[in-house]
Amino acid sequence: MGRLDDRVAVVTGAGRGIGRATALRFAEEGATVVVNDIDPDPAADVVEEIKKNGGRAVVAAADITEFAGAKGVIESAVSAFGRLDILVNNAGITRDKTFHNMTPEIWDAGIKINLYTAYNMTHAAMPFLREVAKKEIAERGEPAYHRKITFTSSVVGITGNPGQANYTAAKGAIISLTKTLARELGAFRINVNAVAPGFVETRLTAAKKEGTDLGIPDALRNMALMTIALGRPGRPEDIANAHLFLCSSEADYISGVVIPVTGAQLGS
Ligand SMILES: NC(=O)c1ccc[n+]([C@@H]2O[C@H](COP(=O)([O-])OP(=O)(O)OC[C@H]3O[C@@H](n4cnc5c(N)ncnc54)[C@H](O)[C@@H]3O)[C@@H](O)[C@H]2O)c1
Repeated sequence: MGRLDDRVAVVTGAGRGIGRATALRFAEEGATVVVNDIDPDPAADVVEEIKKNGGRAVVAAADITEFAGAKGVIESAVSAFGRLDILVNNAGITRDKTFHNMTPEIWDAGIKINLYTAYNMTHAAMPFLREVAKKEIAERGEPAYHRKITFTSSVVGITGNPGQANYTAAKGAIISLTKTLARELGAFRINVNAVAPGFVETRLTAAKKEGTDLGIPDALRNMALMTIALGRPGRPEDIANAHLFLCSSEADYISGVVIPVTGAQLGS
């Protein structure tokens, strides 16, 4: 028995890093997984890996900063598998600059990828989460089971972080969105929660290479690593396990919370 048997889950930004680990972990626990990413090739690799391990998955490649792209992902999940039970909002990247150097283009990019994606996907999912539960209430008095939405904030969405005004503004907003939606959707037994990762080894936190937007300078990496009480950086699987717990029936009475997964990083 898997903890997500019979569930259909969409995971955004699942071609790499935390999203990839979440898609693989969910499949391991019996979920059918729709693997979204803006980059089709890594998404296809994840689907192949899931299938190789005996699971069920499809690729839904799309840029979900656009509402039409997000709607297409949700619709492809429902047309492939007939339903949607779980939405993991994970896609996000950094576009760092000190605030006085942050152009409108860089500000918008950070807000779009880290906040608009959450609105786009979650709004597009409403007919298949809220409306379906509403119909069940009309027919049988209560929703058949708990449906789940998780968001991905960040510890810096709570503490702030120099050089990340766009990212931290979006990640802070994700926390209030989580709490508001938990209250709006509770009557439909849709649990809405967030994880707030600390420092997790992915391409976002890799040593910065010349000419790229992603990554962080070595000095900052080393400083961040020194603040982690558990003595090691997070692994994508650590965050995947938090999404898994929140999306499993073990967390049916947990909604509107933000779980820091930081190894007791200072300030978290
Ligand atoms: N790595 C960390 O330390 C850390 C800490 C806190 C929060 N987070 C958050 O965790 C989430 C995952 O980050 P990660 O570290 O795994 O990064 P990552 O770069 O390894 O993976 C992010 C994935 O999202 C995809 N993506 C980017 N833009 C997209 C778009 N418009 N539409 C669809 N997919 C898109 C990318 O192609 C990539 O595969 C993000 O929301 C990030 O902000 C990460």
